[in-house]
Amino acid sequence: MKTLIAANWKMNPASQKEAKSLFDKVKKSKRKFKNSEVVICPPFAWLAVVSHMRNEGGLLLGAQNVFFEEKGAFTGEVSCLMLKDLKVDYVILGHSERRKYFGETDEMINKKIKKSLSVKLKPIFCIGETKDEKDQNKKSEVLERQITDGLKSVTKDEMKNVAVAYEPVWAIGTGNNCSVDETMGSVLFIRKILTKLYNREVADSTRILYGGSVKSENSGDYIKKSGADGLLVGGASLNPEEFVKIIKSAE
Ligand code: PGA
Repeated sequence: MKTLIAANWKMNPASQKEAKSLFDKVKKSKRKFKNSEVVICPPFAWLAVVSHMRNEGGLLLGAQNVFFEEKGAFTGEVSCLMLKDLKVDYVILGHSERRKYFGETDEMINKKIKKSLSVKLKPIFCIGETKDEKDQNKKSEVLERQITDGLKSVTKDEMKNVAVAYEPVWAIGTGNNCSVDETMGSVLFIRKILTKLYNREVADSTRILYGGSVKSENSGDYIKKSGADGLLVGGASLNPEEFVKIIKSAE
């Protein structure tokens, strides 16, 4: 199983020129990496721009969201088929910023996951507790609910195309990354829930990523010591040299 390193550019950068340059810099160094699958997730507006720059065996492309209907009167939305047409392989779903600012519920996220899987678009399904939930000792309860509801009616076979990203909300964009020990506990807990919902094989073969203030100084530790199979990188992915260091640390 290859390590999965995904770059979440969020609503950055501001121009096509910068997006191309960022993609190109990572693409050039990527040739040297063998053990990791590297996915770049730009905003929708730049997907078509960088899609032309992909090459076989190189960087993969991901989106940061998708809608669960195929086509029609849904102003402002983007469909799975549109993403497939742009050679997008992955889609980040359930990100805490989508949950918080755009009111995405577990039910909506589940519909998006099901729709994506139906066209072989691979979800990077994000879960994680807020600071309040952590302080009130509700982390396990929250993670279990997010996983159970988000993966409702997703089959064992479909799980081969799902990666779960553990992203504690309090660690995102704060510089306050989750410790390796705590991450290890969460990764084990997620595998326990997957065993309950599916079986041991599915739990062991599902890639579980860590995300939240990942930098090149801490990235290697997550891969080597926490049991995580990859990383979801926000802020640090906007600096190509730093992002390449992160990929290298995971090799
Ligand atoms: P961060 O973001 O690396 O900037 O903390 C991670 C994410 O939101 O996916």
